[in-house]
Amino acid sequence: MDVAAMRSRFPALDKGQIFLDNAGGTQALQTVLDSVGQYLYSANVQPGASCPTSQASLESIRNGHLAAAKFMNADPSEIVFGASATQLAWNLRLALADHFSQGDEIVLTKINHESHTSPWLQLAKDRGLTVRWYEPRDKKNPVIEADLLKTYLNSRTRLVVCVHVSNILGTINDVQAVATEVHGRNPYHIWWHPSQSV
Ligand SMILES: Cc1ncc(COP(=O)(O)O)c(C=O)c1O
Repeated sequence: MDVAAMRSRFPALDKGQIFLDNAGGTQALQTVLDSVGQYLYSANVQPGASCPTSQASLESIRNGHLAAAKFMNADPSEIVFGASATQLAWNLRLALADHFSQGDEIVLTKINHESHTSPWLQLAKDRGLTVRWYEPRDKKNPVIEADLLKTYLNSRTRLVVCVHVSNILGTINDVQAVATEVHGRNPYHIWWHPSQSV
């Protein structure tokens, strides 16, 4: 791999500074900066109206969904863009609020990032939900284990919120094993938070 060539595509790396940020602080490729600039310059209107600029806007947004879907091996209808992971988590909490009733349960863990803990804590407060805190077996290597997680699930569980890769601990959780455990028990839902996964 030509590291110098790869680095040269990120203008921010010219600054003589080491960037250890990610998620909202991720540095962007020159081509990304160019594309966003080009969109703002030429097609920054409400998408989907009949005029050509609006059609161009819609086309750009569609292409973005297609590219992200290809990258994630997903369907374009499953892709949502937002300002940040935190904002998207809050949007999801608002969208799902009516699916929860008083006494329903959600499972959270302190391995999770604040961005995908606080929206659900607020939902629990607003809707009278019970929060179950998953405690990892090994505090020195805190992971989400399917067989332990299942002891937190019951007929009132509606949502399990997990992080795939923890930025603080370096923990990588086994998405497939945990998802199989949770999804095997409909109507439970699981939300995997993937900020560090890519
Ligand atoms: C695991 C994880 N989740 C969420 C976030 C927050 O992401 P955003 O800045 O896009 O809200 C971060 C930020 O570093 C993170 O590391």
